[in-house]
Amino acid sequence: MKIKIFTIVSLLIINSAVRADEGMWIPLLLKKYTIEDMQKKGFKLTAEDIYSVNQACLKDAIVIFGRGCTGELISDQGLILTNHHCGYGRIQAHSSLEHDYLTDGFWAMSRDEELANPGLSVTFLVRMEDVTKDVLDGITEKDDEAVRERKIGENITKIQNENSDGSNYRVSIKPFYYGNEYYMFIYEEYRDVRLVGAPPSSIGKFGGDTDNWMWPRHTGDFSIFRIYANKENKPADYSKDNVPYKPKKHLSISMKGINKGDFTMVFGYPGSTEQYLTSHGVKMIMDDSNPHKINIRAKLLEIMKTDMDASDKVRIQYSSKYAGIANYWKKWIGENKGLKKLNAIRKKEQLEMEFQKWAEADRKRNEKYGRLLTDFGKIYKELTPYSLTLDYLSEALLSLDMVRFAGNFREIESFTDKEAFIKQSEQYKAQAAGFFKDFNTPTCKKLFTSMVRIYRDSVDAEFQPGLFSQIDAKFKGNIDAFVSDIFEKSNLTTEEKFNMLFEKPSLKTISVIKNDPFYILYNDLVSIYRNKLMLKIDMLNSRLDKLYRLYVTGLKEMQTEKIFYPDANFTMRIAYGKVDDYFPTDGVFYEHFTTLEGIMEKDNPLIYDYDVPDKLRELYKSKDYGRYADKEGKMRVCFTASNHTTGGNSGSPVLNANGELIGVNFDRNWEGTMSDIMYNPDQCRNITLDIRYVLFIVDKFAGATHLINEMTIIE
Ligand code: ARG
Ligand code: ASP
Repeated sequence: MKIKIFTIVSLLIINSAVRADEGMWIPLLLKKYTIEDMQKKGFKLTAEDIYSVNQACLKDAIVIFGRGCTGELISDQGLILTNHHCGYGRIQAHSSLEHDYLTDGFWAMSRDEELANPGLSVTFLVRMEDVTKDVLDGITEKDDEAVRERKIGENITKIQNENSDGSNYRVSIKPFYYGNEYYMFIYEEYRDVRLVGAPPSSIGKFGGDTDNWMWPRHTGDFSIFRIYANKENKPADYSKDNVPYKPKKHLSISMKGINKGDFTMVFGYPGSTEQYLTSHGVKMIMDDSNPHKINIRAKLLEIMKTDMDASDKVRIQYSSKYAGIANYWKKWIGENKGLKKLNAIRKKEQLEMEFQKWAEADRKRNEKYGRLLTDFGKIYKELTPYSLTLDYLSEALLSLDMVRFAGNFREIESFTDKEAFIKQSEQYKAQAAGFFKDFNTPTCKKLFTSMVRIYRDSVDAEFQPGLFSQIDAKFKGNIDAFVSDIFEKSNLTTEEKFNMLFEKPSLKTISVIKNDPFYILYNDLVSIYRNKLMLKIDMLNSRLDKLYRLYVTGLKEMQTEKIFYPDANFTMRIAYGKVDDYFPTDGVFYEHFTTLEGIMEKDNPLIYDYDVPDKLRELYKSKDYGRYADKEGKMRVCFTASNHTTGGNSGSPVLNANGELIGVNFDRNWEGTMSDIMYNPDQCRNITLDIRYVLFIVDKFAGATHLINEMTIIE
């Protein structure tokens, strides 16, 4: 009995204190919640310096880079800094055996050498606003979820129409705290973004997937782009007449360096976290989702790696795909380890017990919250098998490039007019050229075979695509024979066959595609996805949303002293903390920074990921670090701090107490990757590339001193 009381009391204390360094805060609300605490911890500026609609402020120097990263302005001529891994797809797209920018790096020595990137954009936040009242207008407690969703949808459309003045602005409205609050974001997107510089992968991706998600780290994970605008400084499609964009604000760069305990702040676009998940939700991720997804990806990676190691061509073709798959494969492994070590399920259950007791202690509360946790349990039980099937479908089949390529033709059946189809064929051909550049038929065949096997073995008959019935019916269970047959029959599996088919596109081409096994498979999978899985999953999720909305409301009522931060949802946030070291496991201590010495220790010309470029070796030997060295004359590379970050924060500026740039965020530590679900201040660290190493590489390694001259550097 005594023990029980003790655990509940101690939990109350843990949960109600604002936990140091945890949280991703809404810039608009800093004044209300966090600025005082930030200033107490050393921050020297005001809330208005960070976010304001009345004056140029730090927020004007931060952009969404592409679709999932952050970038920051570092000159008054539109220069932006982000991670190498954020620019990776673009660097890869410009690369070939003749121009292997992945291996050799790329530096535009003048403006006209900067490379255009069709489809790449950066997005500024113009302003944000709390629109909860308007979004929830006319909604009552009695509305069921479907009615509620419909009304919210209508309100959102109305607000969007009122706020988009038909100009360049995009209006986005997003729920916070599971729909307890809503915020509107007005964005402006620039579409002409050019590649300016990227170090070789042996710097920008140093350590590769071996070091990914790990500390100690030595990756020079940065690349540099430039935003172009029309003569009015407004967004425009690519044109050689465009001029470098003039930002309202760009970041000053501090050369003062960092010490343990220094205030740090990360300003960017964290993608998604699930801090308020119940024990059932955590269990589903830990016991079901993660282990299965890890296995599928391990298989994909093994096959790709074998082929990439055997051929430089395949290595270049598959490097970006490989990195994408490897990244979350490794993250999920770390996440599960971290959750286990934290005893996350048990912790969640304790909180839920406490919540239940609190609810039952009052009649009204009991009415509102008493059944909540039982309901959660029921829905998760129902959801788990569907969600697992979805994992298999999306990880093993829908993500395969062959299937996705076939998906490009999904509108093809709507063409009845020959001329219109011939016109459209130009686009198909362009897509195909991009696809086949990074496609190797034998590799794809192996990947496909392996995934068909896994899917057949793991997923119920109800969710098997019709095409797979041939495996038994026609091929006596021989999957290899089945795959060979459809690769042979398909016109989409080699560039030659594709080109022949589209050499003279006609209405007959449409019927050939319509009967292509991969086109048939794609449609089948999409139909399974939509009609068998998502109907059910969406319905269950909408019930879960309602429960979570109530749960978070209840938690807020129960833990009155705690400030709740909303889960990340790819909107602009501030995280703050301090430069800090940590103990990853019992008896092991990790220093908070790394240096070039560590790169030389890892140097191994026989391993692609650790093959230090000669030029860097020379700079190390001669200690030619210029003004970029630290006080001891060492070249710093990365550092760790306790800022709460997640995927999407890559490329985010890490700022010091004066709001000056001290580094670029690019990763988290292996022991802390569970922070998306449960943050732990002792174990969770974000990994930042020291800005001095960036400048050193740009200046001394690449000789792109003209870029340094554009920047505002504070000595
Ligand atoms: N782990 C970092 C992030 O999630 C870096 C990823 C870079 N990709 C890689 N496979 N090394 O984005
Ligand atoms: N590397 C991640 C990103 O690309 C950042 C993280 O997950 O910490 O956004």
